[in-house]
Amino acid sequence: MCGIVGHIGPNNSIAVVLEGLKRLEYRGYDSAGVCFKKELGELDLHKKMGKVDNLKEAIAPLEVESHTCIGHTRWATHGEVNDLNAHPHLSDTITIDDDRSISIVHNGIIENHNELRLEIKAAGLKFTSDTDSEVFLGLMVIELLANVSLHDAVINSFKKIRGNSAFVIIMKGSREMLSIKRGAPLVCGVNIGSGEALVSSDPYALVGTADDIIFPEDDVLCSLSVEHEGLIKFYEMDKSESKRYKLKKQEMSLEISDKGDYEHFMLKEIYEQPHLIRALSQYYTLGPGKELLASIINESPKRIHIIACGTAWHAGLVIKNFIEKIARISCVVELASEFRYRDPILFTDEVGLFISQSGETADTLAAQALCKENGLKTFAIVNVEGSTLYRECDYNLLIKAGMEIGVASTKAFTQQALTGFLMTSAMSDTLNADNIAQKFSLLADRIQDLLDNVTNIKEIAEAIYLHKGFIFTGRGREYPIAFEGALKLKEIAYVHAEGYASGELKHGPIALIDDLMVNIALISDELYEKTFSNIEEVKARRGVIVTIGPENDKNAISLSDYYIPLCLEGLEELTPLYMNVATQLLAYYMAKFKGTDIDKPRNLAKSVTVE
Ligand code: M6R
Repeated sequence: MCGIVGHIGPNNSIAVVLEGLKRLEYRGYDSAGVCFKKELGELDLHKKMGKVDNLKEAIAPLEVESHTCIGHTRWATHGEVNDLNAHPHLSDTITIDDDRSISIVHNGIIENHNELRLEIKAAGLKFTSDTDSEVFLGLMVIELLANVSLHDAVINSFKKIRGNSAFVIIMKGSREMLSIKRGAPLVCGVNIGSGEALVSSDPYALVGTADDIIFPEDDVLCSLSVEHEGLIKFYEMDKSESKRYKLKKQEMSLEISDKGDYEHFMLKEIYEQPHLIRALSQYYTLGPGKELLASIINESPKRIHIIACGTAWHAGLVIKNFIEKIARISCVVELASEFRYRDPILFTDEVGLFISQSGETADTLAAQALCKENGLKTFAIVNVEGSTLYRECDYNLLIKAGMEIGVASTKAFTQQALTGFLMTSAMSDTLNADNIAQKFSLLADRIQDLLDNVTNIKEIAEAIYLHKGFIFTGRGREYPIAFEGALKLKEIAYVHAEGYASGELKHGPIALIDDLMVNIALISDELYEKTFSNIEEVKARRGVIVTIGPENDKNAISLSDYYIPLCLEGLEELTPLYMNVATQLLAYYMAKFKGTDIDKPRNLAKSVTVE
């Protein structure tokens, strides 16, 4: 979703901000802009629909340097995608004296923007965009016209808005860059040596520039200035000094953003899986994760509520099977966007388990807050250390997937499910280091074999990518993979795909089957015969069958039009994670044949920070 970067310091802020915006491209956006201070402090605004490179091209001929710049990548929520609706927004210098002209960038949603818009119009101000963000600018202008200070203008305006938001603000006549947030990600960074300070919606934008990163809490006003000792000061809304922030050394490196020899980040991330699986087992059985798992051995909740969105929700369905079968603890899996609004029945002897790659998904965070309010212990299975979810939960189980740049989540899914397996083993006191190492290593080997032999999958992708629709089916352990396989295909190949439990086909979806419809059927030793007969039913109606199933299974091979053979022996409960890699590759190659933007699929954002 929207990305924010702000920089002050002796280096060229425009270059730093543009580089930061490039790094945030992976999050998804449709337009980009910057506003920087010229020599005498005048604010110079440039914004463009489309890629950050368009913006760069537009600015390059100016050959200008600046030491204060804010930038933004917009993912449209209010108002269509065009140059005017792009951020930053600049105040109307007709209504405000030039020295106090201000510019803002915003990430989030102002829920009461309609009523505030009327108030602002009544004060005689005009809007130049259709965005909710410009409402904050209008509120600030009203404050400044009443001659309050810049700090007061920000605080008073911020108090009037509802919803989760983060803002960065600069003013011509001030040497500060201010930022404030509620419920939206915001991180500051400093490099004392070079005298630079930054603010962003994502720590990744600060890598290579800031040595220390600082996470302010909600409602803390951050003031960045080269005139401050330490470059940043924090204030409460009552203007007293604030201590509500966490400081951390920068640990990320830039290498992670390199695609290497891979054509897409998604493919690179699929291929990283065998290595990551082995590293995860090491981390939790021999490394720093061991202690953490040991600490949850005593947790025996009455019920576990797994709550997540999208792919993380599918990982939750896989984990539910582990929890119920291995630990025999009752478990429900909930979509965060539904859970938070349906007044769920919660008890203090239950646990809320939140799964999220980014740790910033708005609905997941709201659901976590709800569980916390109701006295539940909250656990996170999360990738981004230091993310909001990470900071808010009682226990954090890191999935150690490294940065995931492809918008379509692949390696994070596998790592989330396996972390859930480790957590279950700890809770049921069945965690045995050798056993885990063996299991994970077998899974990693099998996945590696599959990755080394993709010709068959590529050929199948070429044969089917133009078909009318795709129904993924699976039973028992494989049922969540039917959902995940279909989601991956929709996201990156832009084709219609649905996931169903195999047994559900007869209850409606089978009406869709004809010779243009593809059934991607997952079949393993679990419930084999029942799944097999479901595939036969599709075949009888001339559906095209692509089976992902056990190697050497002559019956399944002869029933299928296309077959992806997998050696499933010995994998047991981890089988779905192996099969899922086959669906990832199939989706990837189908998308390649379709020629879509695989790493940044249309309309999608990596991290969904608004509801
Ligand atoms: O960062 P999160 O894991 O909380 O994100 C949840 C979903 O938005 C995410 O999994 C989404 O469905 C992916 N694009 C799937 O590939």
